[in-house]
Amino acid sequence: MLILLVIGVGNAQLSANFYSTSCPNLLTIIRTAVNAAVASEARMGASLLRLHFHDCFVNGCDASVLLDDTANFTGEKTAAPNANSLRGFDVIDTIKTQVERACPNVVSCADILTIAARDGTVALNGPSWALALGRRDSTTASLTAANNQIPGPNLNLPALITSFSNKGFTANELVALSGSHTIGQARCTTFRNRIYNEANINASFATTTRARCPRTGGDNNLSPLDIVSPIAFNNDYFGNLLTLRGLLHSDQQLFNNGSTDAQVRAYSTNSAAFFNDFASAMIKMSNLSPLTGTNGQIRRNCRRTN
Ligand code: HEM
Ligand SMILES: *[C@@H]1O[C@H](CO)[C@@H](O)[C@H](O)[C@H]1NC(C)=O
Ligand SMILES: *[C@@H]1O[C@H](CO)[C@@H](O)[C@H](O)[C@H]1NC(C)=O
Ligand SMILES: *[C@@H]1O[C@H](CO)[C@@H](O)[C@H](O)[C@H]1NC(C)=O
Repeated sequence: MLILLVIGVGNAQLSANFYSTSCPNLLTIIRTAVNAAVASEARMGASLLRLHFHDCFVNGCDASVLLDDTANFTGEKTAAPNANSLRGFDVIDTIKTQVERACPNVVSCADILTIAARDGTVALNGPSWALALGRRDSTTASLTAANNQIPGPNLNLPALITSFSNKGFTANELVALSGSHTIGQARCTTFRNRIYNEANINASFATTTRARCPRTGGDNNLSPLDIVSPIAFNNDYFGNLLTLRGLLHSDQQLFNNGSTDAQVRAYSTNSAAFFNDFASAMIKMSNLSPLTGTNGQIRRNCRRTN
């Protein structure tokens, strides 16, 4: 016991069993709540996955994305990639309330988010992955980093590769992680230019998608990122790229006579390879610069610092 304690204090690393004594029901609480949220709205599985991505790409997986703006604090919620776009905050709040009731003041919002993202993926029949835990929550956030470090949908392949390389990911991992666009929805404003002005698009797909996204107005109208199976986590996203049915400019960049074409083709016929690579890349994403040990804090409310 003493030895464990010494290791626990001295070793500021994440570990698989971090909460096994302090919050033994944590994983069950989160899984049950995520399953309920996804049962009531399937898209929520996608929204939770994206929320985690936008947390981790901005100064690491530290729940900075969850902090609300106040009169004297500016968080990340108004950043261009996040505003009027990120969803799932209420689900995280609900989970946090339940977790605080079961085990007060021990579980971070950052760990809740990383587990919820995994469970949201699983709830839509995607792969699972093992998570190390023990992340702590930031007391800061960065609007500037959110604006500059989360890739935008108008990027070309070299810029996408650079954006992911800046966070330690290979081009292969960029392709695997982009497969998350097998679920969820995007607003008209993010793909209008593609469906009206680009040449590398499937004509019938463009017609269908234009009907939901007029040339002017309707900025918030939604279209599925994977038109074939928008609430099933599978490899249809890659097949869509082969038929020029990527919704975002950035999606179709992965299959546009370039260096990532072969991997897109491979995933389109090998869903096991996609799932395996996706799970590995998600573990890597979830481990981006966590706060551990005595750094940061365990927020009582995910929306504000203690
Ligand atoms: C490769 C660069 C990426 C770009 C340019 C990009 C861009 C976008 C955009 C523009 C949307 C639609 C947002 C809206 O209209 O409100 C979106 C949705 C989404 N993105 Fe990405 N994304 C990228 C990578 C990722 C990664 C790595 C993940 C997760 C691992 C992810 C997960 C999602 C999900 C699940 C949705 C749907 C969310 C929902 O329906 O609420 N994306 N993305
Ligand atoms: C920031 O504003 C909150 C109220 O929104 C207040 O409670 C807090 O003391 C303020 N903090 C600082 C550092 O001014
Ligand atoms: C366009 O998409 C349809 C499926 O809707 C597909 O059958 C067709 O082959 C695609 N066209 C091209 C050029 O990929
Ligand atoms: C690739 O190049 C061929 C030949 O120039 C062209 O027909 C095709 O539309 C290009 N784009 C994609 C995504 O394959």
